Amino acid sequence: MSAPNVYDAVAYPGFAHAQTHPDRLFTIAALFGMTPAPPDRCRVLEVGCGDGRNLIAMASALPGSTFVGFDLAARPIESGRELAERLRLKNVTLTQQDLMSVTPELGRFDYVIAHGFYAWVPPPVQDKLLALSREVLAPHGVAYVSYNAYPGCRIRELFRDVMLAQGRGAEEPSARIEAAKAAIDFVRRNLVGASDYGNWMLDEMEKLVRQDPGALYHDTLGEIYSPCTFLEFMRRAGGHGLQYLGEAEFLEMNDEPFSPEAVERLRSFGPDRILEKEQLMDFLKMRSFRQTLLCRNSVALRRAPASEDLSRFHVSTRARAVSPPSPSTKSASIEYRTPKGATMVTDSPVFQRLMARLEKAWPGSVPFPELVGVCGDAAAAAQLAVRMYATAIVDLHPGPPRFAPRPGATPAVSALVRLQIERSPLVTNRLHADVRIDGDAARELVRRLDGRRSRATLLRDLAAAGVPLAPEALEAGLQQLAQLALLTE
Ligand SMILES: C[S@@+](CC[C@H](N)C(=O)[O-])C[C@H]1O[C@@H](n2cnc3c(N)ncnc32)[C@H](O)[C@@H]1O
Repeated sequence: MSAPNVYDAVAYPGFAHAQTHPDRLFTIAALFGMTPAPPDRCRVLEVGCGDGRNLIAMASALPGSTFVGFDLAARPIESGRELAERLRLKNVTLTQQDLMSVTPELGRFDYVIAHGFYAWVPPPVQDKLLALSREVLAPHGVAYVSYNAYPGCRIRELFRDVMLAQGRGAEEPSARIEAAKAAIDFVRRNLVGASDYGNWMLDEMEKLVRQDPGALYHDTLGEIYSPCTFLEFMRRAGGHGLQYLGEAEFLEMNDEPFSPEAVERLRSFGPDRILEKEQLMDFLKMRSFRQTLLCRNSVALRRAPASEDLSRFHVSTRARAVSPPSPSTKSASIEYRTPKGATMVTDSPVFQRLMARLEKAWPGSVPFPELVGVCGDAAAAAQLAVRMYATAIVDLHPGPPRFAPRPGATPAVSALVRLQIERSPLVTNRLHADVRIDGDAARELVRRLDGRRSRATLLRDLAAAGVPLAPEALEAGLQQLAQLALLTE
């Protein structure tokens, strides 16, 4: 009998990953001159899809697209299938299968995703992933591959050594996880000359102490842990006829936040030496994780986005003017900041008008041609939008929102969210992010948002369930769900 699958023995926590969504892959491909398949009519393959949480959320929001996922472990696939069946999803297929036995007969795909896979499988499986991606990708298809990267992972390897050595005696996974966490926590608290190592290392250790036990067990303590440099990854991908498209987090490609000396050097590489530029950025950032997008070698990429490339996009922002302004901000300048801490200071009246228009639309978005109206010039608007996207001040979407920016007369969340809330406070919104719903009243409200209840009915049903709400509190709750991009009506 073969050894039990480690992912069957210890569950890996599934999440929705916005950076793997066809919306994101479409966006970056289109910005670089490709003609990718529209997200609402595409075919997506996920390799090592775990419990399918990522694919199921995509499938439930994109009924016109088809999603195929497989994983070597049986249990996660079983639980994903059960969820897909309960949701009566006809556009998602999950199977238990070894990548090594998969053939291109699986079909053609516009998008191929392998998240948290490459660095944890042996080299022949890595090669098979790249080969299959090349074989099944449509001519303008995009493959997403995430992996652990050097140089940042050199530090992670050091922590892994500590954790593996200290947990050696323990047989049971839970005992190994506990011993590993205790070991790294002990070192973190007692490290000689800790301040000399910098806060970064201490933060990294704290992250390990707090990490979900299943994720720690597989990500850091797993038998295989093979980071590589970006250039080494691209050498392997190139060997399979794939070229570098970009990073799924567009912010990671931004060369602005470096010192003037570094910026000059980075910009000296030019578009034909982008691989060297990206590798140097890894050294400057001590990057430990990459989410690289690949496409066929035959695709001619255009590295400077043109205004036509943006015409179909919608733009949104979570950034708000910092109020009161920080003392260093000049009188005509406004500083904008997103909840994740991205900032931009500008004294440009055009820019400020554009931000005001976007702020008003949130959580909705504004079609790019409308922003051209605000800026008065398509080329300037395109340049501004790409720069703001690269600094994570705005987001770009391939079409209008798939959620209701304001609550309707009979508000609804998706059937997926109503099922997820029965099991956990973490639910997947229509921007493909997992968000938390905390508190009894909010949970009971979400359970009842099926698009058939008016506000009066909701108030009555909530009171009958023992969570009476004042009409204003209901309205505030609905507004909050709209802000979280959870409402579909
Ligand atoms: C770290 S988990 C990531 C799961 C999921 N992609 C995510 O990000 O949440 C790696 C997954 O790859 C699967 N896997 C490993 N080797 C595989 C193979 N040869 N064929 C298919 N799946 C495999 C494991 O079973 C596991 O579910």
